[in-house]
Amino acid sequence: MQAGVLVLAAGRGERLGESRPKAHVEIGGRSVLAHSALALARARCISHVLPVVGPGAEEVLTALRLEWAGPAQLLDAVRGGATRQQSVAHGLDALVARAPELDWVLVHDAARCLVKPEDAERVLRAALASGAALPVIAVTDTLKEVSDGRVLKTPDRANFKRALTPQAFRIDLLREALEQAERDGFEGTDCSSLVERLGAVVVTCEGRAENVKLTTPQDLERMRDQLAPGIPSQRRVLA
Ligand code: CTP
Ligand code: MG
Repeated sequence: MQAGVLVLAAGRGERLGESRPKAHVEIGGRSVLAHSALALARARCISHVLPVVGPGAEEVLTALRLEWAGPAQLLDAVRGGATRQQSVAHGLDALVARAPELDWVLVHDAARCLVKPEDAERVLRAALASGAALPVIAVTDTLKEVSDGRVLKTPDRANFKRALTPQAFRIDLLREALEQAERDGFEGTDCSSLVERLGAVVVTCEGRAENVKLTTPQDLERMRDQLAPGIPSQRRVLA
């Protein structure tokens, strides 16, 4: 079973606060987008990798093409939209147009640049029966529902999981979910939430806690330690 993967890199990275989008930020001489795309391209189940990018990605894409080692095929990038969901919609349209033989798609946040090929294998395997799957990890902190600085309640954390990517879907199911969300004016922060709204079954598989999303400057420092040990991070040079 083969799938295409959309690597979402069109966000602005406001919480990271760098001068460029976070997918363009380099760790150990390689962009965050390239770390994700090159790792996913090594998964046996991935036949095509399609980057979804924002403005100013030309240099990063050129470097990615030069470094490309496959075995999956790197498709020309497409321009994302104003929201993650719009970026998924643009990417999916392009994937269907360029690789119409595919039945399955994975959607991955480029910002999860510690992703491994086995993350793709595991989630696609999990999705085969139901048509939709995502990796999850346990919540380890106690959860509080808070409003206006006051605790309303303490939900049982055993019932909650943290959602990661890559998430896997039958292409027709994700398309239907995107169309329905657009009709309803619903905006989700992941693709699973759109499919859940259809009443379809989404199954979970075991995620890896190390597959974190680069979001804050602290995440960047930790990732630099992991992906480029020995290269001092900018923060420590300045300190
Ligand atoms: N993303 C995208 N298109 C958008 C918004 C987000 O492709 N319009 C991508 C990001 O590039 C990222 C992933 O979706 O890889 C997860 O989004 P998030 O972590 O929120 O990234 P940003 O939106 O870039 O960051 P921030 O919210 O801090 O601005
Ligand atoms: Mg965002």
